Amino acid sequence: MIQKPKGTYDIYGDMGKKIRYIEGLFANLVEKYDFEYVATPLFEQSNLFHRSVGDSSDIVRKETYDFKDRGDRDMTLRPEGTAGVVRSYIENKMYGEADLPKKLWYFGSMFRYERPQAGRYREFRQLGVEVLGSPDPMMDAEVISIAVNLYRLLGLKGVKVRINSLGDKESRLAYRDALKEYFSKHLDDLCNDCKERFNNNPLRILDCKVDGNSDIIKNAPKMQDYLNAESVKHYELVKKYLDALDIEYEENPNLVRGLDYYTHTVFEVEASVEGFGSQNVLCGGGRYDLLVETLDGPHTPAVGFAIGIERLITALDYENIQAFEDKHLDIYVMPITEEDKEYSIGLSQALRLSGFSVDIDSLNRSMKSNFKQADRKNARFIMIIGESERNENVLTIKDNHTKKEYKVSIDELIDFLDDMMGECDCEECNHED
Ligand code: HAM
Repeated sequence: MIQKPKGTYDIYGDMGKKIRYIEGLFANLVEKYDFEYVATPLFEQSNLFHRSVGDSSDIVRKETYDFKDRGDRDMTLRPEGTAGVVRSYIENKMYGEADLPKKLWYFGSMFRYERPQAGRYREFRQLGVEVLGSPDPMMDAEVISIAVNLYRLLGLKGVKVRINSLGDKESRLAYRDALKEYFSKHLDDLCNDCKERFNNNPLRILDCKVDGNSDIIKNAPKMQDYLNAESVKHYELVKKYLDALDIEYEENPNLVRGLDYYTHTVFEVEASVEGFGSQNVLCGGGRYDLLVETLDGPHTPAVGFAIGIERLITALDYENIQAFEDKHLDIYVMPITEEDKEYSIGLSQALRLSGFSVDIDSLNRSMKSNFKQADRKNARFIMIIGESERNENVLTIKDNHTKKEYKVSIDELIDFLDDMMGECDCEECNHED
């Protein structure tokens, strides 16, 4: 038997319902913020990720799925969504449009060759937003509020927002120099990855999983001491706006996130539930004011985030939140004999096109097992189609809640169903929780 690749999973059953439900909720939410949908290719030229996510990031150094296509071009399965969206913004000259900032949202698969474990997959899905063209710290707060409000809408409680500022280019460079000087005295005590980070991007040493809790890192210079006045002002305003939005947050001076493109605000949302496991960051994001220029576009300040939907679903499971609506079927159609099927299939099509959900028995079940099947599908009505129904065009309709039976002529069928579908006076529907 051929098995799925390591670190991937199939979506079906409840997982499919949850993903579709959360995506729908997110789409509705971002529409309220006036975002537009964007979709970019699952693979891009490898260079895009080298220049954006960064050659010094773990993602590009160790985790990308790279391949040569049949035209000998270097291609990479996207490890994240921001780079593709920015590429698309530049290539389609969205910056020329009058309605800046461009507010875009997306949902789709990302690919990282990581060691699979709970909450960490090789193909995973992100819900993300990118706002291109606004330098306003108010936008940083609005973007953070979208993630927080999604969790609020879902009823998720155990979440913690962490923020930090990496400052603008000038502040970052000053900080980088300070870190280089500091870590040059402690190089021998750092792990091998950090030794490499020391040369490429010393900021990344701060969130190293191996050295993260050591005294060397705890005593390292703090970004806050190197922020210039402009950067301090931006950060203070972000916090002010978060307060105005009633969003609680924790400041973490060592938060840098694993992508090289960030400037000013970086943030993450963590599932803070005991026993959740180490892969507990549900959402990561931040400002990336220099990325559009790095990719040869015009100067465009930007900010965004991505939420990993698998980890979000695990967090919802932890809090016993179902995250999808129980489905019900409007009508279950039972043809009695082979001859009744032609009539049944035509009737089912007409009903579906009138807006009703309809399933039709295609396994020639017995009457008894058909009734059971209708119950399993939580069908509101059952239509039994036999010779007399066909000949007389009068249908036998059973209300599966009240168990009442009706005879309805085909001409009045839609009106009848419309009337009946609204209110149901059965005990189950009127039961107060
Ligand atoms: P990121 O922090 O690399 O940011 O990923 C965002 C989220 O994707 C993580 O917080 C996590 O929930 C989920 N995630 C990442 N890797 C995996 C994995 N292997 N398995 C399951 N879930 C995973 C970005 O990707 C940036 N593009 C976010 C961003 C948008 N920044 C600005 N705009």
